[in-house]
Amino acid sequence: SRDIQIGLLGSGTVGTGVLQIIRDHQKDLAHQVGSGIQVKKVLVRDMNKYQDIENAGELLTDKVEDILQDDDIKVVIEVMGGIDEAKDYIIRALKNKKNVVTANKDLIALHGAELVKIASENSCDLFYEASVAGGIPIIRGLTEGLSSDRISQMMGIVNGTTNYILTKMSQDGRAYDDVLAEAQALGFAESDPTSDVEGLDAARKMAILASLGFSMDVELEDVDVRGITTVTIDDIKYAEQMGYALKLIGLAKRDGDRIELTVQPMLLPAKHPLSSVHDEYNAVYVYGDAIGETMFYGPGAGSLPTATAVVSDLVTVVKNMKLGVSGRSIVPPLYHKQMKTHDE
Ligand code: NDP
Ligand code: HSE
Repeated sequence: SRDIQIGLLGSGTVGTGVLQIIRDHQKDLAHQVGSGIQVKKVLVRDMNKYQDIENAGELLTDKVEDILQDDDIKVVIEVMGGIDEAKDYIIRALKNKKNVVTANKDLIALHGAELVKIASENSCDLFYEASVAGGIPIIRGLTEGLSSDRISQMMGIVNGTTNYILTKMSQDGRAYDDVLAEAQALGFAESDPTSDVEGLDAARKMAILASLGFSMDVELEDVDVRGITTVTIDDIKYAEQMGYALKLIGLAKRDGDRIELTVQPMLLPAKHPLSSVHDEYNAVYVYGDAIGETMFYGPGAGSLPTATAVVSDLVTVVKNMKLGVSGRSIVPPLYHKQMKTHDE
């Protein structure tokens, strides 16, 4: 059968990984979904920067209409980041009956419910596994693997950049600014790393996890946030001398009909499993009434790990297209219950 045509919005750290996986795993992907998957167009702002992409002349565009108005393109992958333009493009893609995969937690944390609704109204899929914890399949884990349980708490490290910084400050005594610059060069940090180091990126991810894990409508303002900008090497060393590790921890806790959502630097006993989560790796403990506790662990940022989550979503989207069930298998924020947060 004919190849499934994809439009890619963005070709930075994640987009490059997406192109690589679609190219390198071509046969396996085709085997799974029953037809070839082909990227037809790649949107960037500055095409000169991307001339070394294979087949750049045909692939690259700086006009989003080349993707949104192309009827052959059935799936749009948004890995450009930002909020307003990305939101506009995704809505237009959905209204043009294109399924969407995105890695954009800023957008999903703020407008996920609205976008899921528009996807559903247009019988399209909208998947966003890569928006939390990079390559770790935690969204599927929560909404499929643990769907029969009642989640009471989630706690963990959900930002790779800050964990990388804290790791290198601790292990190598390196200065904060120096390691932050390295995390940016490695592609872990956001284009404006303020959201990483001030905890907002982790807060967005915890809001997404809480909305999915607790099946409720969570606002970003519900999260109490502190980042790592004031943490010094002395703080880290002192903590270690006392038998602790200093980590940026996200916590989402359900207590009756209330929830507590925080992101803050915390001291963990050195033997705690989260204390040995290093570099850009993430890990999240999920506590459920029936399962007890389980931990999701893996690379939380970076090109290929994140792109793995994106392309896996793409596989699901294409399978759904083939089965004729697009728009019915969306990852559920159920929004059936409006819960109170700790500060109400
Ligand atoms: P990059 O900054 O590396 O890449 C962004 C890409 O999008 C560039 O190719 C850029 O083109 C293009 N782009 C940005 N804005 C526009 C626009 N308005 N119009 C057209 N093209 C645009 O970002 P990342 O790949 O790191 O991140 C992409 C998304 O994935 C973000 O939402 C991020 O939060 C998320 N994410 C990132 C992870 C990571 O480890 N990096 C992990 C998980 C999620 P140009 O260079 O021409 O501006
Ligand atoms: N900037 C993010 C991080 C990318 O460092 O975790 C992954 O979402």
